[in-house]
Formats: sequence, structure tokens, C-alpha cells
Amino acid sequence: MCLTIPGKIIDIKNGMASIAENQNQIKIDLGFVSGAKVGDWILYATERAVKIIDENEAREIINLLETKYKPVDNQKLPDRLKEMIVDLRANQQGQRGKRKVKRITKPDIEYLLSLENPEELTTLYSEANTLRKSELKDFVCIHGIIEFSNYCKNNCMYCGIQKDNESIKRYRMSADEIIEAAGDAIENEGYKLVVLQSGEDLSYSDDDIIGIISALKNNHKVFIFLSVGERSENFYRKAFAAGAHGSLFRFETSNPKLYAKLHPGHSLEQRLSSLRTQQKIGYYVASGSLVGLPGQTISDIASDILMVKKLGVPMISSGPFIPTGGTPLYKIKSQSANRRTKVKTVELFLKYIAVSRLLMPEIKIPVTTALETLDPENGRHRGLLAGANALMFNLTPKKYCKNYKIYDNKYVEREKVWQKYGLFKGEESYEMLEKRLRF
Ligand code: 5AD
Repeated sequence: MCLTIPGKIIDIKNGMASIAENQNQIKIDLGFVSGAKVGDWILYATERAVKIIDENEAREIINLLETKYKPVDNQKLPDRLKEMIVDLRANQQGQRGKRKVKRITKPDIEYLLSLENPEELTTLYSEANTLRKSELKDFVCIHGIIEFSNYCKNNCMYCGIQKDNESIKRYRMSADEIIEAAGDAIENEGYKLVVLQSGEDLSYSDDDIIGIISALKNNHKVFIFLSVGERSENFYRKAFAAGAHGSLFRFETSNPKLYAKLHPGHSLEQRLSSLRTQQKIGYYVASGSLVGLPGQTISDIASDILMVKKLGVPMISSGPFIPTGGTPLYKIKSQSANRRTKVKTVELFLKYIAVSRLLMPEIKIPVTTALETLDPENGRHRGLLAGANALMFNLTPKKYCKNYKIYDNKYVEREKVWQKYGLFKGEESYEMLEKRLRF
């Protein structure tokens, strides 16, 4: 984790460096970075310098978020889209100046999710990207995930680790293995936020999981997010007290009928009740839905985005649906149909990110692994440029990782350049994160 951007020093006075940021000049405390001079590039976080970097490195980082959108001729855009953008911009400024303009309605969201014309899509993505930049700058957060067990007692129709899938090899990591994998990522690589995820596997008792959380919190400065599904209120309370302060907990779909169909024996109501309990306890909850499920309509997806907003979560956790071998929703299609479906799903999910950003300017949006799986070359970049602001890297030990097959061909690469950009060691980064996440 996270939160650094490069800047070129224009001036230095009393240990403070001036940096050009957008059209403004800002002042950065050089802190313990010694020897910096005018003209040097530094990597900095909210208000502190982290280290001096060379110009090539700075350029490499800047390129990661460089916008390559071709300018769009506004005259060619449909009136409805133009008006919506004017309203959105006014609303943004209006919020600051306390002037309210028309809100985005559900039919508006459906309209945006249905855009297909390349110029219109460019307009949508670049509006969302501009908003990300103005709200969150280029601070890209890196989260790490350890998938510690692929046993699951449930049979979610889309999920590759569902109980009845006999085609995968099951594994459980021991408490020591989990603690070691997390400790290594924190101390040696600079991760500050680690997600502990598994199928719903009751062979880990409440106390087993709480023991792991305590061991990590006693030895490291780290934020722990749980992603272990529906457990009791008592479990979530004890885990919070032990130091797990975040939870990745999707509602998967806001359509109760579709939810019931996809999750035999479970209901949306029950899912949301657990989510609200976690919020009440004080968890920093990331939630959202699967996008592109069979039987899901554009109206359902628009409702999903509105549900994220209504729940008031500070972070979205959503991803595109990927048909997966060994599950009831897997249908073998011809290669070309598959490729076309993939392109469509990626596009639909990018629209979902962009609309979410427009509706919730400050929300944290990680690019999820499923998007990178569908578009390994560009998924990460395209997600960020459509309004996302965080990445999730896989920290599961290699020997287990390939068996955590929520979906096929899961993308697990961690490009060095992002780690260089997003991870740095030291307590200071933890404190900054603490401030940002407001625990
Ligand atoms: N495609 C995409 N995402 C999936 N998940 C489970 N199965 C799939 C799939 N086939 C997601 C669910 C779950 C998260 C851990 O993984 O949304 O909440």
C-alpha cells in the first residue's frame, strides 16, 4: 500500500519542497529525505516526501496513468449525454458552492451503461477519470490478498470454488503459513493492507481466525480486511476487537430473485443484514456486485450501483462475471463468441466503474482481478482510466494460488513498476493510510 506520486521540485525553503501539481504549487515536507535539490524528482505522499527518484522512474510512473483518450468533438455527442455532463460538472462545483443541479436518475444510469459509440464511451471514461484526478489525485493504493482456503460450504452457481465442484484441488493454509505469507508481504514488500480471503470454511473456528488476526496485529503495522463470508455477529465483533477493521463483502446482486436463484439456500436479505451488522460494528466495508451475470439486466446493474450508494460504503468491491469450468453457469461457447463476450463484459464493467465514480466522486474503487483476467494486457490501466483508484495484488503462496479458482485463468501478475510506485516501507505510510481511512 500505497499513496505516492512523483513530483519535480521547483523550490526548496526550510525543509519544504515546492512541487507543481495540476495548475497549483503545493508544499511537501522533505522530512527525512536528505540531499534533495531543485530539479530533482521525488516520490511523495499526501504531504511528505518518501524518496528521491530519477527522472526515468518518474516518467515511467506518470505514464502509468497517462490519458490516451482522443479528444472528442462535443458537437457530435447526443444532447442527452451533453446535458448530463453539464449537470454533473455543475453539480460538482455546486456541491462546493452549495448549488444543486439535476441529479443522475436510474434511467440516466441505464442510458450511460448502454452507451456503445466509441466517442460517447471516451466521453464517459474521461469524465470519470477527471473526477478521480480531482478527488483522489493520482494516489493509487495497492492492496494485497491472501486466499487461505478454497473449501466452501456453499454452492453459488457462478463460483469455481463452490462445494459441488469436484474438478478443483482443495487446500487449506495453516495459521502459521498465513501469518508467514502476510508478514513477509508487510515487512519485505511494504504492504500495509492485507485481505484474508477464503471460501466459507467452518473448519477454521472463530478463535482460529481471531488468533491469526491477533498474531498479525501484535507483530506488524497493517490493516486487515476480512473476506470470509457470512459469519455470526459475535465473530465479527471479536475479530474487530482483535484488529480486523475492514471487510470485503459483496452483495453480488441487488435483485432478490436473481440472488435467490444464484445462491441456493440463501437470501439477499440475509446477506444485507450481515453487511449492515458489519457496518454497525465499525468495519470499513467494501461492497458491490457481479457484473454481466446470466439473467441480469441493465436495470439490475443500475440498481446495483444505486445500492452501493445507498449502503454508503467507502469502497466498491465489484467485478465482471467470468464463466467458470465445473459450475452450473459454465457453457462452452465457440472461441469467437467467447472473445466477443469477453470484450462486451470488459466494456460493461468499465462503464460500471465510470458511472460509479460519477455518482460517488470520493469512493475508493479497486480494479479487481477479474477485469485483469479478462484483459490481462490493459485491464489494469483501462480500469484506472475509467475512474478506479486502487489495485489488488495476489499474495497467496504460489503452490496454492493456482487452486483458488473462483474463476478460470485468474490473473495473478504483480508488475514491478506498480510495486515500486505503490509500496514503500516505514511507519509513516501506515500513519498516512490511517488518516485516509479514518479509523
Ligand atoms: N466470476 C467473477 N467473479 C466471481 N466471484 C466468484 N465467482 C466468480 C466468477 N465466476 C467473486 C464473487 C465473490 C468474490 C470473492 O469472487 O463476487 O464475492
